[in-house]
Amino acid sequence: MEFKIKTGDLARQKTPCLILGIFDKRKLSGPAETVDKASYGHLSQVLAKGDMDGEKGRTLMLYGVPGVEAERVLLVGCGKRKELTRAVYNQAMAAAVTLLNQTRTGEALSALAELAPEGMDKAQAVRDLVTTAADQIYRYTATKSEKRPVKHPLKGLTLWVSKKHDQEAAERAARQGAAIAAGVALAKELGDLPGNICTPSYLAQRAQELASDHPRLKVEILNEHDMQELGMGALLSVSRGSRQPAKLIVMRYEGGKQGDKPVVLVGKGLTFDAGGISIKPAAEMDEMKFDMCGGASVFGAIRAALALELPLNLIGVVPASENLPDGEANKPGDIVTSMSGQTIEILNTDAEGRLILCDTLTYCERFEPAVVIDVATLTGACLVALGKHPAGLFTADDKLAAEILAAGAYAGDRAWRMPLWEDYQTQLDSNFADMANIGGRDAGAITAACFLSRYTKKYPWAHLDIAGIAWRSGKEKGATGRPVALLTQFLLGRSGTTR
Ligand code: BES
Ligand code: MN
Ligand code: ZN
Repeated sequence: MEFKIKTGDLARQKTPCLILGIFDKRKLSGPAETVDKASYGHLSQVLAKGDMDGEKGRTLMLYGVPGVEAERVLLVGCGKRKELTRAVYNQAMAAAVTLLNQTRTGEALSALAELAPEGMDKAQAVRDLVTTAADQIYRYTATKSEKRPVKHPLKGLTLWVSKKHDQEAAERAARQGAAIAAGVALAKELGDLPGNICTPSYLAQRAQELASDHPRLKVEILNEHDMQELGMGALLSVSRGSRQPAKLIVMRYEGGKQGDKPVVLVGKGLTFDAGGISIKPAAEMDEMKFDMCGGASVFGAIRAALALELPLNLIGVVPASENLPDGEANKPGDIVTSMSGQTIEILNTDAEGRLILCDTLTYCERFEPAVVIDVATLTGACLVALGKHPAGLFTADDKLAAEILAAGAYAGDRAWRMPLWEDYQTQLDSNFADMANIGGRDAGAITAACFLSRYTKKYPWAHLDIAGIAWRSGKEKGATGRPVALLTQFLLGRSGTTR
């Protein structure tokens, strides 16, 4: 989808469809009022008939509105003006696009950006509309016979801003929104693909494709032999029970100055997690194809950074493996030696994410990173603790925590900080190795983060547990593409630009 910004007289805009917000009860929003006047009160007359009161998510399409150039006028309910939240604001855009996808409109001009709730700046207002609209266009089709489920999807969206002096900021925001949306779409697609297609080798191939499309991206794939040479005993132990060889995908984007320390994003790329010998129950096990969503979000963030040509050095590292039961698989009680030299007693083979991540985090030392953020669907406990709204953020670094929380809040892709105190470390004590890979029933998300912290002493580090936010279950089952928006916002901040 293409996005543009426009200012000027709303009634004079030539467009197949003009989108206007209506508040409950039948209150015209600022731009709608302007159009109402130009149309000699046509909008008020229609609303007076009572077909649409402005309830959240309601829509009403009008044709032949007098006094305006637009071929159609789409009224979208925004609920009560005082109760307009960021979520409701975005729902209005989503409702408009859902309706337009069922028509032959093709292109539209939205005046919704002027209605953004208090506390959002113009850039956020525009960016949210762009990412929300783009998200409505996403359809998973890879393994469906019907490749065009939407016959006439919306192709272009122009966002109208009232003040000429907002135009430049709005254009920048639209560019950022489009880049984030492209990253989110990539993350969703990789997440949604089934485990028998989206294998470690498949992810590696997709990384190479990304590099062949973008000369500034260099991709290196480490195979199991390379991992053996590096001593990655923890990572290799997870993939031993699988017929699909593990891959360590390294994507380097050099947009910064030579010698600038890179931001390193690490993403768990577990392409299917059956639990191994500590096998998971059958119900909903299919959802463990989403266990590579951390890795997918790293792909997505890199895609966004490429689109924005961010002036920074960025490295994405995705350890990719399956976790299956097998005669060769890890057994409870097995002890492996990680690349760091620390030994690990595997008390539960289903706590495999931390095993593939710990060697990857040690590997990252060679990049002398400015910061490492790992993203992982790491623990069911994080979902229990925080539900499906924020990612769990774990770091001992208060400044870094504030930076990540702010990036998430600005981007509308929030994280919530959890403690990472030394007090919890003893839960990982083992009688037979330097540590166990599980820490008992209490504080499961925290002890998982404590485990990772033992491999990240050489650089500033934060961990995002996305178990609750990476995908939706039930009727709307599918990857969300989170936290691509948070990561991209973080990168925008680190690159010191507003491009
Ligand atoms: N991938 C899972 C975590 C997960 C489970 C994410 C459910 C989202 C929904 C991870 O590999 C895992 O199995 N973790 C175990 C850890 C436990 C054995 C300490 C868990 O959370 O049950
Ligand atoms: Mn597991
Ligand atoms: Zn897992």
